[in-house]
Amino acid sequence: MKVVEFKLGKVLILDQSLLPHKEEIVVCKTVAEVADAIKTMKVRGAPAIGVAAAYGMALSNDLQKDAKTLKSARPTAVDLSHAVDFVLRRAEDGIRPLESAENWAHGNEDRCARISEHGADLIKDGDNVLTHCNTGPLATSAEGTALGAIIRAARDGKKFFVYVDETRPRFQGALTSWELLRNKIPHKVITDNSAGFLMQKKEIDFVFVGADRIVKNGDFANKIGTYSVAVIAKENHIPFYVLAPISTFDFETETGDSITIEERDEKEVLWVSGYRIYPKGTHARNIAFDVTPSRYVKAYINEFGIFDRISGVEDTWKNTKE
Ligand code: MRU
Repeated sequence: MKVVEFKLGKVLILDQSLLPHKEEIVVCKTVAEVADAIKTMKVRGAPAIGVAAAYGMALSNDLQKDAKTLKSARPTAVDLSHAVDFVLRRAEDGIRPLESAENWAHGNEDRCARISEHGADLIKDGDNVLTHCNTGPLATSAEGTALGAIIRAARDGKKFFVYVDETRPRFQGALTSWELLRNKIPHKVITDNSAGFLMQKKEIDFVFVGADRIVKNGDFANKIGTYSVAVIAKENHIPFYVLAPISTFDFETETGDSITIEERDEKEVLWVSGYRIYPKGTHARNIAFDVTPSRYVKAYINEFGIFDRISGVEDTWKNTKE
């Protein structure tokens, strides 16, 4: 089942808000419906929302207006803006939005495959890896990034173990577990506050995470809780790797302080599976992402390779554009 695809003038999206219990497709006939699927996290994960938005542009009758609608659906992940701008720029050169969207989707598949290959090289037999949130095929509409590398290493025959952060409040850990089970990869889910204990006990060898926006100085936004994991990893001398395609880099923004952080409805914290678990009258803050300073990152892994300095990423990217 495809995560996002374009068929007969419609954008088809696998509804991730129903997984892992139900596999249902949402059919979007308008830009507004695609924007809503992104906002309500039926499609989620930075690269996957980029692909959905690119295809959304192929439904547009007013590219400028619809670009704004799509970009505002979720503010933190920069792939979304990059994908929409890609379609817009090429439309100025007379290229049809659907053709550009297909190009974006194929480029994304290629980027994720190469990231998975580079990341898999770091995984050895007997390793214990910790991951946070969900960064596999569901999150990318392709092979994945952090989880893509994990799946690739298992397919290469390596034997290792994965600890999966539950990732409150949206439980993306359940999606990761679903993807690991489908690939028969041994793993256990842990509550988000367990990682420190396991690191202290030397039960984790390294951390693999994805990103939603990596800025010029190497600070990056990712799912809430990533910063805490990174700090505890450094305290325990555990390497912390960020796996993300060039479409997730934002070299226009200088530091992590300038990243807009999405805050979502308090209901996502107060309610679980249709039950209110807090007393009436309790309010919550639902901060969707946090920013991890670059000093906690051992290396950035993207389609061009493994970079221990962010400046190396920007130089390589500029050279490939020239
Ligand atoms: O709110 P989500 O589920 O869209 O957040 C997803 C993440 O934070 C992922 O780690 C990130 O988008 C990278 S996906 C390859």
